[in-house]
Amino acid sequence: MKDPEFWHSKWAANQIGFHLEDVNPLLVEYWSHTKPTRQDKVLVPLCGKSEDLVWLATKHEEVQGVELSLIAVRAFFAEHFYTPMVVPMSGQHELYQFDELSIYTGDFFTAPLKPVDIVYDRASLVALPKEMRQDYVERIKSLLNPGARILLVTLDYDQSLMAGPPFAVPEQEVRQLFDGMKITQLDRNENADMPPKLAKVEGARMIEEVYLIEA
Ligand SMILES: C[S@@+](CC[C@H](N)C(=O)[O-])C[C@H]1O[C@@H](n2cnc3c(N)ncnc32)[C@H](O)[C@@H]1O
Repeated sequence: MKDPEFWHSKWAANQIGFHLEDVNPLLVEYWSHTKPTRQDKVLVPLCGKSEDLVWLATKHEEVQGVELSLIAVRAFFAEHFYTPMVVPMSGQHELYQFDELSIYTGDFFTAPLKPVDIVYDRASLVALPKEMRQDYVERIKSLLNPGARILLVTLDYDQSLMAGPPFAVPEQEVRQLFDGMKITQLDRNENADMPPKLAKVEGARMIEEVYLIEA
């Protein structure tokens, strides 16, 4: 894994500008496009301490998350007053389990995740540098049950104006990464909120895109 220390230091310093206080409105608006049923198993890779986990757990019986930072996972449960069961796993992983939610701590690439029917990716693919993205997508694909769907939220901007993360992942790259799958763009917001370091750059803008990707 490349530079886990980068993320550990961000969580340790509480520099988590990507974290949303509320459920992502794009999840609420577009989840129905994945044709979800209660029995569909859901994966939230690189989940942080996202409120989206809670929303998904109200709709599904099994929601798996995976997150490198123990600080994030512990904060997630503490902030919701949930007391999870903590199960040691082989290698570097632990499973934090509470009702519908199973959150694995440690590296997404090696976590003992189970196959799923729907993946929700917000600020996950775009958190990874270009050289890691194809491996990330291959790992996602390896976890998909037949007929699986992915709801993917990406960002696009002029990468020369800011070093990521978040990184720009243009539509063309999304199509290359998920080659062989059916890709439908559901939304494209050309005036998305920008991280402060990009907002300072005159003329900069950020595009937020939502895709439905089907196996
Ligand atoms: C930009 S944040 C997004 C978090 C979440 N998706 C959200 O919307 O709030 C990316 C997260 O990925 C985690 N992360 C980065 N690399 C990882 C890896 N290889 N395995 C598991 N988690 C990872 C980081 O610790 C960080 O919390």
